[in-house]
Amino acid sequence: MINLTGLCNICLVLGLNWARKVSVPPGPLVRVEGQTLSLRCEVSDYEGPPEQDFDWKATRGSETINVISTFDSSFPDQSLKDRVISEDIRVQRLGDSTVELRIRESKVTDSATYTCSTPSTDSVISGNYHANVQLTVIADMLVLVPEAPVSSVTEGRSISLRCNISYDFVEGIYLSVTYSIKKEHSLEEDIFTFGPDVGVTVGLNFTRRYADGGMHLHMDSGGSYSLVLSGAVPADEGMYVCAARQWTREQGVWNRIQEKTAVMGQVAVVPTGEDGLQTFTVALDSPVVAQYLGEPTELVCKVTNISLFRWERLGVSWFYSVASPSNDQRTTDIIASLNENGALVPSEKYRSRIASGHIVVTQMEPATFKLHLLHTANTDAGEYACSVMTWAPTRHGNWKKSSEHRSHALTVRLASKGPGVSVAARIVRPATSTGSTFEMACQARLKNLQAGISLSVLILVQESIGAPNRKLASLNPDLILKLEDWLESSRKDSLSLLKSGREEFRFRIQGVQLTDKGFYSCEVGVWTRQDRNEWAEVAKADSNKVLLTFDHTRPSFELSISSDTSSIYPWETVKMECIVSVSGTSPNTDDVAYEIRWYLSPLRGSDSLTLLASMDRWGMVKKSPRNDSSDCSLERLRAQRFTLNIHGTQDSDAGEYYCTATPWIRSGISGVWSKEPDLISKRVFLNVKFALWDSIKLPLLYGTCASLSVGLFSLILGFVCARCCCRNTTHTPRSRIKLMDLEID
Ligand SMILES: *[C@@H]1O[C@H](CO)[C@@H](O)[C@H](O)[C@H]1NC(C)=O
Ligand SMILES: *[C@@H]1O[C@H](CO)[C@@H](O)[C@H](O)[C@H]1NC(C)=O
Ligand SMILES: *[C@@H]1O[C@H](CO)[C@@H](O)[C@H](O)[C@H]1NC(C)=O
Ligand SMILES: *[C@@H]1O[C@H](CO)[C@@H](O)[C@H](O)[C@H]1NC(C)=O
Repeated sequence: MINLTGLCNICLVLGLNWARKVSVPPGPLVRVEGQTLSLRCEVSDYEGPPEQDFDWKATRGSETINVISTFDSSFPDQSLKDRVISEDIRVQRLGDSTVELRIRESKVTDSATYTCSTPSTDSVISGNYHANVQLTVIADMLVLVPEAPVSSVTEGRSISLRCNISYDFVEGIYLSVTYSIKKEHSLEEDIFTFGPDVGVTVGLNFTRRYADGGMHLHMDSGGSYSLVLSGAVPADEGMYVCAARQWTREQGVWNRIQEKTAVMGQVAVVPTGEDGLQTFTVALDSPVVAQYLGEPTELVCKVTNISLFRWERLGVSWFYSVASPSNDQRTTDIIASLNENGALVPSEKYRSRIASGHIVVTQMEPATFKLHLLHTANTDAGEYACSVMTWAPTRHGNWKKSSEHRSHALTVRLASKGPGVSVAARIVRPATSTGSTFEMACQARLKNLQAGISLSVLILVQESIGAPNRKLASLNPDLILKLEDWLESSRKDSLSLLKSGREEFRFRIQGVQLTDKGFYSCEVGVWTRQDRNEWAEVAKADSNKVLLTFDHTRPSFELSISSDTSSIYPWETVKMECIVSVSGTSPNTDDVAYEIRWYLSPLRGSDSLTLLASMDRWGMVKKSPRNDSSDCSLERLRAQRFTLNIHGTQDSDAGEYYCTATPWIRSGISGVWSKEPDLISKRVFLNVKFALWDSIKLPLLYGTCASLSVGLFSLILGFVCARCCCRNTTHTPRSRIKLMDLEID
């Protein structure tokens, strides 16, 4: 002892710093009401006796009370006496220099700053003699409400374990939830713990199951914690317990400050037989099956008896195989899948049809999937199957396929696989001669095809049997006309092709030529819309052939006459027209010419026929000399129309008019002109209204002569009277006499 003291003195002399050190845990500390709490106090680097004394004080606000002391039993404050006597509050010595203040059942009112002090036993006062720690005792608000699980589950089903937990949130306090199982004749085994940090602790015997997604904790914001164990096995049988713990983190170490445990209940697992293990069944149905090509087909894959966990996901794969009972080695193609993320994964073979929307794969309801073929083709007939997969999350955030169930195969047949269309061509208007009109109809007959289709047509001609087909014109499914190998651009307008009925087309050539002769047929295509833009041909058919032909006959001519009036007044103009019409194989206009003559059979005077005028085949006009003041003119309006105008008509122009025409035809081969027989028109009668003039011209002449005679007689009589009766008058003006002389002359 002396040595030690001496050593200490030497140390002091050497400048070693002896300084008492009192320490308590660093605060602030949080504890829960009702729990036992302890505050440790330790002293070091002191002089004097090894066993040290301690006392505790508590300060709340400005008030400080004595709590307990190791050496003075009268030390505790009056308010704490009972608790000290009952040892609810005591100080426990752990060693010479270490004690613990213990409160067996802490109260919220115990919250205070606690000071641990040691009386000095040192020769020199040095260091600290007391230390403080702040303690907060919070009310116990942790409530754990377990929900009894179903007492018995079938093997393979899931066990849902729910505990509802509520507590007051206090900063620095953390919660953990632990699920355990207590099996008969064995210790309680932790299955799964969530918290107190965000981590998860999985019991050793459950790690595999957790990694496979067979165990999952679901929490909701209301404080409900559910642990679901899927795919129950007999070993899952037992008593389930859940525990809620509150923790603080002190000096980097988790410190449990509260724990509540509740038994949830006993669960029995009923084993199933070998084939009883179905968590669900998959049924494939076809609510819509195409009866005809191009119609839609719908297949529905429905999962029934499913007890899907909330975190699990469903996926589907669709399969197709050609139904060929004779051939064993059938191949099955995958069409497309919906994966665990709901993404569509088309197979290579079906990629384009899926991309174009021709095939649609959808999830209609959580457990119902649909395969929709918008336009069923012949090649779509066969066997279909679907396979439904469940996906569970792994702890790494991935998805793992947890089960797969395949439906039975369903056969899809089209009512008929035969050709969908046939076409019949017929002549509507036969060509009779060059220049006439030819018209044919193409009547399609659709079999096994229905709405949503459009027809196209192509007109083909074959000059003779065995000759190659030449395309003339076509209408596409949008009914846009295209002239194909129709070479004569000058005759473009003489050709027409149109849709004349729901399933009928008309083709027409106006003014047929010798070169148009041949065998005509049509090819009708049936189209459906693949998507918004594209037509796809689903069927096609050729018609029979119809013959365009006609006899090459000599032309025959006819001549007709017309007049714009049949009765006119003198001095007016009349116009008459002679028209040559040609029927049969008409020659080109350049190869025909006409000589025209106009005749008059006068009404009055003579019964002789008068040639009025003529026009030779080159257009030279020759007029006959005329006796009266009227005149005539000739005109060629068009190749085959000729007019005669009579200007300033006179009485003599009345009568019957007619014309004659002499056609001249030039042979296409030799170029020689030859004359055809004369044509004579009918006669037209022209009446000139002369009656008024005829009736007044003689009376007018006689009247004029008579009045002149009477006037002359009166003058003479007057002159004689003047000579006889007025002889005495002397002053006769010379001028008057002169005038009278003149008048007598
Ligand atoms: C647990 O909480 C949920 C809602 O979060 C509630 O529906 C359920 O009834 C609660 N269970 C118990 C046993 O209180
Ligand atoms: C795991 O299960 C076996 C057999 O059921 C048991 O003996 C063992 O104690 C369990 N392990 C733990 C950590 O509970
Ligand atoms: C659903 O399951 C029950 C019993 O597990 C069974 O009787 C029933 O036939 C199943 N239903 C279907 C559609 O598979
Ligand atoms: C003109 O008069 C002559 C003689 O009188 C007659 O022969 C002739 O036919 C007349 N011509 C016409 C155009 O009337």
